[in-house]
Amino acid sequence: MITVIGLGFVGLTTALGFSKKGFKVYGIDIDESKLAKLRNHEIPFYEPHLDEVLAGQLGKNFILDASFEDAIHDSQAIFVCVGTPSLPDGSADLTYLLKAIEEVLATGNTNFQTIIVKSTVPPSTISKQVVPFVKEKSSNGQQIGLASNPEFLREGYSWEDFIEPDRVVIGVEDDRSREILDEIYKPFNAPVHYVSFNTAEFIKYLSNTLLSTLISYSNEMSMVADHIGNIDIPSAFKILHEDKRWAGTPASMSSYVYPGCGYGGYCLPKDTSALDSIAGSHGYKTKMLSANLEINEDVKNFLIDKVKSELDTSEHIGILGLSFKKGSDDVRLSPTRDIIQKLLDHGFSHIVAYDPLANKTFAREYNFPIQYADSLNELMERSNALLLLTAWDEFKDNAEVIKQKKLFDFRYAL
Ligand SMILES: NC(=O)c1ccc[n+]([C@@H]2O[C@H](COP(=O)([O-])OP(=O)(O)OC[C@H]3O[C@@H](n4cnc5c(N)ncnc54)[C@H](O)[C@@H]3O)[C@@H](O)[C@H]2O)c1
Repeated sequence: MITVIGLGFVGLTTALGFSKKGFKVYGIDIDESKLAKLRNHEIPFYEPHLDEVLAGQLGKNFILDASFEDAIHDSQAIFVCVGTPSLPDGSADLTYLLKAIEEVLATGNTNFQTIIVKSTVPPSTISKQVVPFVKEKSSNGQQIGLASNPEFLREGYSWEDFIEPDRVVIGVEDDRSREILDEIYKPFNAPVHYVSFNTAEFIKYLSNTLLSTLISYSNEMSMVADHIGNIDIPSAFKILHEDKRWAGTPASMSSYVYPGCGYGGYCLPKDTSALDSIAGSHGYKTKMLSANLEINEDVKNFLIDKVKSELDTSEHIGILGLSFKKGSDDVRLSPTRDIIQKLLDHGFSHIVAYDPLANKTFAREYNFPIQYADSLNELMERSNALLLLTAWDEFKDNAEVIKQKKLFDFRYAL
């Protein structure tokens, strides 16, 4: 029913996990020494719990002795879990992945089968490389579905993470593959998210690059602190962890890991600049902090480019939200200020704005040649395209109405 190709950390855990859930699973690897160990009930690497599961499943649901052809012929789902190491230029080496897929196709099996890429591959790999590769290499009559199913397990906890996943992500673009994967993941009591190939692939990198970014952020901060001197670095980090934004479900920290139109308000812009500056004056030139400040400007230019590419300057633009975040009337260094300034600079002269709290403070603080609406309804009447810049609940509550107009949801709120 299932074949798993590549029995490393991910593949072996996957194969044993599906076996434990009651599926018949064929395990395939090109490494004979690895197979010999597994046949001997030995796990070829350190990973708790896998030995007990292997002992219970080998020769029952988990089969190592079938030929490649028989395994593929008998399987509706083929999980590819081979390595995708880095090439010297940093890109992912897809040689093992494509080789494994080619071997599957070479069996010439004509039953409908889904090849599921569990290996980590950069976004657009399936759509731009695997789809054409399968088309080129498959013979007449072969019916191949494709899916992306990135794996989030952590080494050392691979069994727990696989068997009790916090979420399952499946990139799939055909119904038969989706049905097969639905069946396979039914016994797992976890939310299953069906998305496009690119989205599924991207989520894995979103996750790992966040982790690597947090580590590099922490390391850069330790170097900033060391240059400034007399800072107890481990205590500072441990006290940071007591911030209540880390706790709760979902932790309110998650609102910071969400895209928008840049940070603003009284604290984040000035404090980020100030730490960047004092690090420089102590002889440490920051990379992440200075990139962070640059990105805060880049994102506004990116949004303006989007508006310019889709709207004529004669359009009547409605601005939804002026304060730097919902629940506040603070407009100091609000990204809205820069965005409105840039719109005016690019010749957009019909701008009307509405904020549930901050119309007056904004008008007082910035002397822009724009108009203000007293209600959402009035704003809707007076504009033919909308830019959502603050994620107020009132806008979410009126999403259907707002979406009737051309909308740029720059907070990804609706
Ligand atoms: N290790 C992790 O914690 C982890 C977590 C999530 C995702 N991933 C991703 O999963 C993929 C696999 O990672 P891993 O750590 O399990 O790798 P690994 O190197 O431990 O295992 C890969 C296995 O594939 C086998 N293989 C290679 N080509 C083959 C072929 N044509 N046919 C059969 N077997 C073949 C290799 O012999 C090896 O046993 C990678 O893309 C990795 O980035 C890894």
